[in-house]
Amino acid sequence: MAELRKRCVVRAPATTANLGPGFDCLGLALDLWNEARFALEGEGVAVAVTGEGAGCLPADESNLVARAALRVYAEVGEAPPGGLRIECTVRVPLSSGLGSSSSAIVAGLLGGNELLGRPLGRDRLLELAAGLEGHPDNVAAALFGGLTIVVQKSERLLTKKILVPEVYVALAVPELPFSTDAARAGLPTEVTMRDAVFNMGRIPLVVEALRTGDFELLGQVMDDRLHQANRLRLIPGGRTAWEAAQRSGAAAVAISGSGPSLIAFVSLATEAGVVARAMAEAFAAEGVPARPLGLAASSAGATVLP
Ligand code: HSE
Repeated sequence: MAELRKRCVVRAPATTANLGPGFDCLGLALDLWNEARFALEGEGVAVAVTGEGAGCLPADESNLVARAALRVYAEVGEAPPGGLRIECTVRVPLSSGLGSSSSAIVAGLLGGNELLGRPLGRDRLLELAAGLEGHPDNVAAALFGGLTIVVQKSERLLTKKILVPEVYVALAVPELPFSTDAARAGLPTEVTMRDAVFNMGRIPLVVEALRTGDFELLGQVMDDRLHQANRLRLIPGGRTAWEAAQRSGAAAVAISGSGPSLIAFVSLATEAGVVARAMAEAFAAEGVPARPLGLAASSAGATVLP
């Protein structure tokens, strides 16, 4: 075990989950980072937030970063620290389908683990993260980086990280009240064999297309019959923005995670901004303000900074 520490700084990325057909099993880390500074000082738990969610995210032990950090103490049978200060710089938009809660959870777990001298390995941290988040796909990508495949195997999670070459994405983040729970509640509990097979065949092709940078292939296989049609109905302007992305040159389009953001894959970095703006303008034309974002995928996952 490493030494106990009184301070540490952790960063954890935004993520996009599902990637079309890979419902609940595919995730991709994005180059947009939340940062959390931990210090064992003062009394009780105090969290300061700047950036996204400043003024509305909790400042006490109910904050997700703090809850995750304290979860590591409980897991290893340590009493919570007498005083814990956490300063969060939040860059991942909240409730947007970009894995903001996964990023917070993973940052908290990594920070708590670091303060305790790293008693837990990444596989156990992944299981704790999935327990706190409820779904493993975003947390796996946030923890490991790159393109991750995650499956439940009895009580354990089995994860494989696939390194991807330079991948650029365009996002439109609409200002819509949205929750993953509501977006999941609208999904069927049973699907037909035909629809299951439709998705099953496409998942390895999405992985292969991203692994080899084959955007032509990606454009042919990033469709889905399990979740996106139901969810698109919950996103006003979503269909129009999707079509705008296709018209402006996107190779493939999907709902990011459970939505409401849309993600489009482009073959050149310079196209990301153009496609993101086209999607945001299409949302705006339907009366829904949306933020355009052009990002790259990240091969790195959450990290303790030196
Ligand atoms: N796979 C999840 C979903 C992503 O689509 O609901 C959100 O955690």
